[in-house]
Amino acid sequence: MSDTETLKADLTRRIAEAGDLAALEAVRLEALGKTGAIPALLKTLGSLSPEARREQGPALNALRDEIAAALASRREALEDADLEARLAREAVDLSLPPPPRRRGAVHPTMQVMDEMIAIFAEMGFALAEGPDIEDDFHNFTALNFPPRHPAREMHDTFFLKPGPDGERKLLRTHTSPVQVRSMQRTNAPPPAPWIASGREPPIRIISPGRTYRCDSDATHTPMFHQIEGLVIDRDIHMGHLKWTLGEFVRRFFELDSVVTRFRPHHFPFTEPSAEMDVQCEVKDGEVRIGQGQEWSEIVGCGMVHPKVLENCGLDPDVWQGFAFGFGVDRLGRLKYGMPDLREMFASDVRWLAHYGFSAFSAPNPATGLS
Ligand code: PHE
Repeated sequence: MSDTETLKADLTRRIAEAGDLAALEAVRLEALGKTGAIPALLKTLGSLSPEARREQGPALNALRDEIAAALASRREALEDADLEARLAREAVDLSLPPPPRRRGAVHPTMQVMDEMIAIFAEMGFALAEGPDIEDDFHNFTALNFPPRHPAREMHDTFFLKPGPDGERKLLRTHTSPVQVRSMQRTNAPPPAPWIASGREPPIRIISPGRTYRCDSDATHTPMFHQIEGLVIDRDIHMGHLKWTLGEFVRRFFELDSVVTRFRPHHFPFTEPSAEMDVQCEVKDGEVRIGQGQEWSEIVGCGMVHPKVLENCGLDPDVWQGFAFGFGVDRLGRLKYGMPDLREMFASDVRWLAHYGFSAFSAPNPATGLS
C-alpha cells in the first residue's frame, strides 16, 4: 500500500470511529488543519520531479476531497444523533397539567365606559376631556353654583393645598367642568390663522372621566367615573334630551323598550333639571331593568342654564342646549350586578377575575365593541 493509501485508510477509520463532534474536529485538524498531514504532503509536491508531481498531485487532491467529504458526512450523522438524543431526553410529557397562566381582564368600569362611548359615538357625539385637578371657576362658579353652596365645603370636595397665589385647586367633583371648557373653546381664536375655527356651536360632546367626592359607603366611593354629555345648538329642546337618553338606555341595556320617567330635580347649572329613572324589578338582590314596579335613578340632566351659557361666553338668546351626567360605575352595577361599589376599586384580582371582561371577547352586538 502506498503512503497515501495508508493515510487514507487510517483517516477514514478514525473518522468513522469519532464518537462525538469534538473527536471528529480533532481528526479534521490532524488531517486538513494548517499543520495537518494532507497539507504537509501537498507542500512536498514542489520538490518532486514533474512526472512524480503529475502522478502525486491529482492523487493528493483526490485524497483531500474524499477526506473532507467523509468528515462532512460524519459530522452530519453525529449532529443528527445529537438531536435524536436531545429529543429523547427532553420529551414533553403531555399528561402533565399545564403551568398556571395568569390572564388580565378588562375592569367592568372600563368595559361599561367603552360601551357607552360607542353608543354615543354612533349618535354623533365627539369625545372631550379635561383635567382631574380643576379650579373653582370651572368646577363651580361657571356652573352657577352660588358662593356658599354646600358642595363647595370640605366634606364633599377634595381641596388641594393653596398655591403661592392663594388659589385652592380641587379634584373635580363631576365632569361638568368639561362642559365649561368645551363652550369656552368656541370663543377661543383659531390655533393658527390658516385653520378655520370650526369651533362655533353646534357642540355635541361626551366627556368620560374620573371624578372625586369625599364619600364612601356601599354605593359611593371617593373616586368614581362619570360620562357627561352636552349638546348646544340654536333649537335644542327637552324633546331632544328625552329621545337621546331613551335611545341610549335601550341600546345600553339591549332591550327593545325600557320605560323611563323624568323626575323634576335641581342642579345649579341646568333649568329645568331632572333625573331620569328606569323601570326595574329587584328580585333576590338582583336588579332587572325593563320590568317590575320599581325605579332606579340613572342620570341627572336638564337644559343648560342661561347663566352658564353666559359664563362660558355664549349668547343665551342665540344658543341653548341640554346636558346630562351618568355615573358609569353605577350603571355598570345595574347592568352587570356588582353588589358593592367599593369592591370595584379594591384592586382585588379575585374580584376582577370574577367580574372582569375578556379583552378578546366577541364584539358586543349592541355596540360593535369587543
Ligand atoms: N354634574 C351632575 C352631577 O355630578 C350631573 C349632571 C350633569 C346633571 C349634567 C345635569 C346635567 O351630579
